[in-house]
Amino acid sequence: MPGLTQPGLCFSYPYSIMTKKIRAAITGVGGYVPDYILTNKELETMVETNDEWIVSRTGIKERRILKGENQGVSVMGIEAVKEMLRKTGTDPKEIDAIIFGTITPDMQFPAAANLVAAGVGATNAFSYDIGAACSGFIYGLATGASFIESGRYKKVVVIGGDKMSAILDYTDRTTCIIFGDGAGCVLLEPTEEEVGVIDSILRSDGTGECYLHMKAGGSRMPASHETVDKRLHYVYQEGSAVFKFAVTNMADVAAQVCERNHLAPNDIQWLVPHQANKRIIDATANRVGVREDQVMMNIERYGNTTAGTIPLLLWDYERQLKKGDNLIIAAFGGGFTWGAIYVKWAYDPQ
Ligand code: UT7
Repeated sequence: MPGLTQPGLCFSYPYSIMTKKIRAAITGVGGYVPDYILTNKELETMVETNDEWIVSRTGIKERRILKGENQGVSVMGIEAVKEMLRKTGTDPKEIDAIIFGTITPDMQFPAAANLVAAGVGATNAFSYDIGAACSGFIYGLATGASFIESGRYKKVVVIGGDKMSAILDYTDRTTCIIFGDGAGCVLLEPTEEEVGVIDSILRSDGTGECYLHMKAGGSRMPASHETVDKRLHYVYQEGSAVFKFAVTNMADVAAQVCERNHLAPNDIQWLVPHQANKRIIDATANRVGVREDQVMMNIERYGNTTAGTIPLLLWDYERQLKKGDNLIIAAFGGGFTWGAIYVKWAYDPQ
């Protein structure tokens, strides 16, 4: 630092110290769930199950299903983003980037994010998907925040959503009762205030592949008559194994992000946990030490929408959020992928 030792400059600071840190604030939320409601009662007519088992083992009462020909996940992403643009009064041409966390893109390519950008008129945006299963939205939120923090981009849209009904075997009671369809999104913009994405921890472990995957349709096992006959284009899950990993890892990472930001349970206004199973949510809440009324939950109405659960929680609870509220977001999913993000909410209800 030669400048600092020169006479007359000893009390001046380099420019980088004087400028405030740019943070990425969530400045708007949008969401979309399809109209069709698949209840536990209807599932009872499809597989050997019952409402009591589903509610007591998962907390789910109903989920939404996107019906109709040629309806991919981008349809829900477009509706969610359009709502957010309307609410925030944002011109789609001002959007710099669209990141879509999804494992059910309309096609292998182009990316669902490309289709959303075209669908909402975001003609100046670059766009891509993130395939991190249930952690897709938090991965997108952390990377989108980094784009903003770099100072290079001003408006980044992060979407999370899945059309899980497209990859579910409705003769397999261990998976078809859990998942549903839906998508949500947030707008990220720069701020110099102490709000926005404060910290994140993201993790992955590909050895989890054997417990949760879809065997066919990728480059290892392309679609063929045989893969269709063997029903290999559906979600495969070893539920109780995934459950154990989810409980430990999601709770650990949520607690870790609280500890390193010196957040005691009373400092947290909201825990925002991935909605896979109410028992996993309860375990995470216990580990972080928060009460039930500090935990966002909508699993009973939407089931597990994979990358959609967290933005759909923000969408449902937006009116209860106040500027300065501390949110701990946590997710765990296929991969395995998991992580936690500390967000300080940036606006009061409008
Ligand atoms: O979001 C992505 C990550 N995924 C997750 O986090 C999911 C984690 N796993 C889970 O949520 C739970 O493991 C499930 C909800 C999938 C299953 O609950 P479980 O308490 O772990 O049940 P289980 O797999 O240990 O099965 C217990 C019993 C079995 O019967 P037996 O062998 O004890 O006679 C199953 O066949 O429950 C039976 N069973 C059902 N019974 C009625 C499994 N599914 C059903 C069903 N209805 N739908």
